[in-house]
Formats: sequence, C-alpha cells, structure tokens
Amino acid sequence: MTDTSREYAAALDADDPLAPLRDAFVRDDPELIYLDGNSLGRLPKRTAERIARVVRDEWGSGLIRSWSHWADLPFQAGDLIGETLLGAAGGQVVVSDSTTINLYKLAVAALDARPGRKVIVTDDDNFPTDRYVLEGLAAQRGLELRVVHTDIDHGLDLNVLQEAVGADTALVSLSHVAYRSGALLDMAAVTEIVHEAGALVLWDLCHSAGSVPVRLDASGADLAVGCTYKYLNAGPGSPAFLYVRKEVQDLRQPIWGWFGQRDQFAMGPAYDPVPGIGRFLVGTPSIMAIAAVEEGVRLLAEAGIDRLRAKGQALTGYLIDLAEAWLPDLALATPADPKRRGSHVALRHPEAWRMAQAMIADKVIPDYRTPDRLRLGPAPISTSFTDVWDGLHRLRTIVDERAYERFSSEPARVT
Ligand SMILES: Cc1ncc(COP(=O)(O)O)c(C=O)c1O
Repeated sequence: MTDTSREYAAALDADDPLAPLRDAFVRDDPELIYLDGNSLGRLPKRTAERIARVVRDEWGSGLIRSWSHWADLPFQAGDLIGETLLGAAGGQVVVSDSTTINLYKLAVAALDARPGRKVIVTDDDNFPTDRYVLEGLAAQRGLELRVVHTDIDHGLDLNVLQEAVGADTALVSLSHVAYRSGALLDMAAVTEIVHEAGALVLWDLCHSAGSVPVRLDASGADLAVGCTYKYLNAGPGSPAFLYVRKEVQDLRQPIWGWFGQRDQFAMGPAYDPVPGIGRFLVGTPSIMAIAAVEEGVRLLAEAGIDRLRAKGQALTGYLIDLAEAWLPDLALATPADPKRRGSHVALRHPEAWRMAQAMIADKVIPDYRTPDRLRLGPAPISTSFTDVWDGLHRLRTIVDERAYERFSSEPARVT
C-alpha cells in the first residue's frame, strides 16, 4: 500500500538529488501544478537570459558578423543532444526544421536508398503527423503503407511487427515512446527485425528524448527525428533534431537547400551536398531558437539522463499508485511496468475531457487525448513528488464532487 500522505511526497522530494534543478525554471505562480511537460516544457531561467543576450549582443551589436559562429550552432546543439541524451557519437545529429519536415526528409532518403521495395511499415497509433507524412509519400510514389495494429494502452507487439516486415519493405517508421500511452518500444529488438529484412528504420523520439536513455548508436538504428519543445524545454515551435547514422550518411534528402551545399558561399550553379550530417540541413537556421535548445539540453545534461530516467520512473510510479488509491473510476492506460513506459501516464475515463478542463480551472495542467484519456506528464527535471501529490489530490476532489460536470463536453481547438 502506498503512503498517500503529503508528508510522504515531501520525504521523497527531500531524497531527490534532482530537486534543486526545479528552481532552474520560471515559476511565476506557486500554486500552478504543471503536468504537461511532455507537450511543452517549462521555461528555464537561463534560456530567457541567453535569448536576451543573443538578441541584444549577438544580433544587436554583432549583426551579420555573428554568422561566423552562428553557422556552427545546428551542429553544436545537435552534438550536445546526441552525446548527452541519444547515445549518438558526434557528427550524426543536427538541429533543423520541424519534426514533420525532418521525418519527410529522412523517409524520402530511406526510400530512395531501397529502390524496388514497395512497402513502408508503421503502426496505427503512431503520431498523426508521422502517419500523414508516410501516407503522403506512399500516395505520391505508388507504394503501400502497411499500417500494423497497436494496442493503444500497451504499445506495439513485436510479433505483429515481425509478421508485417519482409523482403518488400523499404522503411519502418515508429515512435520510440507512444504519444498517447507512453508505451516504450525496444529499439534494439525492432532494429534487428527491420535490418533482418534489409529495410531501414526511422524513429520518432519526440516523447523519449530527455525522458528515457536512447541508445541510437548501440542499437544500430539508422535514422531518427525528434522535437525539442517537450522534455528539452526549448520553447514553442523550437526546431527539431535529426539523426543519421554515420554509415548511411551518403543518403540523399529531397530538399536541396543551400545550407546542405558544399562550399556554400561559392554560390555554385548546381547542388552538390557536403559529405556528412550537414547535407540534411536545408535553409537558414533559427538562431534564437537553437540557442534555447542548447540551454534546455545543458540543464538536462547537468541532471544526467540516467538520473532523469530513474526520477521519471519514480514519479510516474507514484502517480499511478495515487491514482489507484484515489481514482478507482479512472483506468490506467499506460504500461504498469516502469521499464515499458516513458515519462507520462494516461488515465482513461469517459469524462476525461471535462475533467481536464476542470483541472485547468483548478490550476492543474494536464492534457487530453482522444478518445477518453487524461495524459499526465510530470517532466522529471522540473516536477516534484509534491507536485504530483497536489495535482492528483485536486483531481480526486474534482472527480468525487463531480465538479467536471460544470464544463462543456464540446472539444476545443487545441487540447
Ligand atoms: C510523437 C510526435 N511526433 C511529432 C510531433 C509533432 O511534430 P511537429 O513538431 O513537426 O509539429 C509530436 C507533437 O506533439 C509528437 O508527439
């Protein structure tokens, strides 16, 4: 039986080596409980200062001269993400564009590398943008998009994947941590299945980067993309990263932009991409946004991904225990085994949408995911055990008093 007292949460916080890092984030309203770090991470104080410096000094004073060091930023930030969070040696990760655009670039590169193979494999609970990009590619190129079925609570069964992948498969694209349930896939096992069939694998790491250790090099993964506005705390719309394993960096991506060009400022007549990861860049990078990526990732690097993972497992485990004790009508829609989930938890209830609105009115921020899930993401770097206790306690009152019945069941534009 879990100790459900608030004192116990405070004791867990007192034992938490990462607790001091909570103060590294802007926290204007001490009553606000933020359980949505897996959608949009909090603002690190250092990021606000760094952006002010980039604007004032590097842009304001340095003007165009600052490009001499700005040009390195996509690589510098990429290596920092790769080496500290993704198990990727230098020269294989860059920061650029959005996750969607990077997914497109890398998926096309992979398909072109497997001419004659007609199948792209993904799963039916993969994130919508991934499914749409792959659907579009299949339609444009006359390929088959083979969509395997996933259990939306427990994740993809590798036997089902194994059945779907074969000699006709060019590309398998999956999310490492499922956006809805948080179910975590075994990257090495999936990669082996894909490689046995002679196909390439492309991972979406949006919900795993910064929350679980990713071992891209060790697992032999070919390609990966992910965003920086969730656990990496780089801000709304901050640019994404992409990974291309050294051995496949001769792949060609479809957007032939000048930032991927050899001897860029020679302004040559024809596209001739640089060797290496640089060829996956397209156009002028967003410097202020990449500065924010660097600051966010430096904080995670200070914490260390193994400690973040340990705290993520403890926070989600504690959240699940409190939900079991206090919220018997809400069912767990996330793997119960901590090794099989990332850092967020989904709870199922037919009134989840109205509950989410009631929580927000009571200063607890969750998000809602179709069809009937409250999704709670206690980001390990910025969330305390007491935050989890307070959030769940307020939710318990909302459920017990049926306070959610005062809210509309009409869906909003953004959930
Ligand atoms: C798994 C996953 N992939 C992709 C995206 C979004 O990609 P983009 O940043 O291009 O909008 C999200 C956004 O939440 C996501 O959760």
